[in-house]
Amino acid sequence: MEATRVTTELRGATLRVAMNRPEKKNALTLDMYERLTAAFTQAATDDAVRVLIITGAPGVFTAGNDLGDFMKTPPTGMDSPVVRFLHALVDFEKPLIAAVDGPAVGIGTTMLLHCDQVIATDRARFHMPFTKLGLVPEGGSSVLFPALVGHQRSASWLLFAQPFDANEACDAGLVSRVVPPAELEHVAEALAIDIAGLPKEAVRLTKRLLKQGMAAAVKDALAREGALFMERLGSPETMEALMSFMTRK
Ligand code: COA
Repeated sequence: MEATRVTTELRGATLRVAMNRPEKKNALTLDMYERLTAAFTQAATDDAVRVLIITGAPGVFTAGNDLGDFMKTPPTGMDSPVVRFLHALVDFEKPLIAAVDGPAVGIGTTMLLHCDQVIATDRARFHMPFTKLGLVPEGGSSVLFPALVGHQRSASWLLFAQPFDANEACDAGLVSRVVPPAELEHVAEALAIDIAGLPKEAVRLTKRLLKQGMAAAVKDALAREGALFMERLGSPETMEALMSFMTRK
């Protein structure tokens, strides 16, 4: 059961990694983070893999961290599964494409900041409800969103926790292209095939150059955000918000 919650499939030179727990809106468990990290780590060194596509299930990308896990087994240190996944994502040197359909919540949105292209369907919805949960941003988003969209829009999304749709995400530069749901897989794969056809070493070096300017700031943010996030998980504000989600009708 657990093993099928993250699936991997090599199609040509593209590794397709899918979050697959649709009955819980792909909410990410500790085991799923471990499996995602393993997939990224293996893909990083496997010569057969030129591009990675991260995706969800039809109608849902991911509802973010499993909120029950936040209560039962919260991350407590830098070797926690979620932290290890974030580092695997940030350190991933090969082209990374996200294919997003339906809700992308919390880390489901912040992980997109580390992708090289994000293809979203017209029913994709983005939401970072960290403050509503008594929490703070993660995934380097506290520096990457201001750099991408400026303070005001970052404040709408991260401070006021306002959701936004695929067109707004595309307009802001978080999403590269908006497509109908039936075209998502094909468009992402066609893009991956194009990128896989480019000279491998030039692609690796170019991605590294594109990321280098912000690399130190992102690592610093990960450490800063991680420490505060873990502290906040034990706060009365967060406990109340989590209880309210777990006991909702
Ligand atoms: N953690 C644990 N379970 C979750 C979850 C999460 N993050 N998100 C959804 N689920 C579960 C629900 O509890 C429900 O389980 P049940 O059928 O056993 O009651 C199931 O997934 C379906 O969710 P539901 O809320 O009924 O689906 P929806 O289509 O109405 O709404 C979302 C989808 C994603 C908008 C909504 O579930 C949601 O807001 N989830 C919380 C997201 C969140 O706060 N994530 C953490 C960010 S840091």
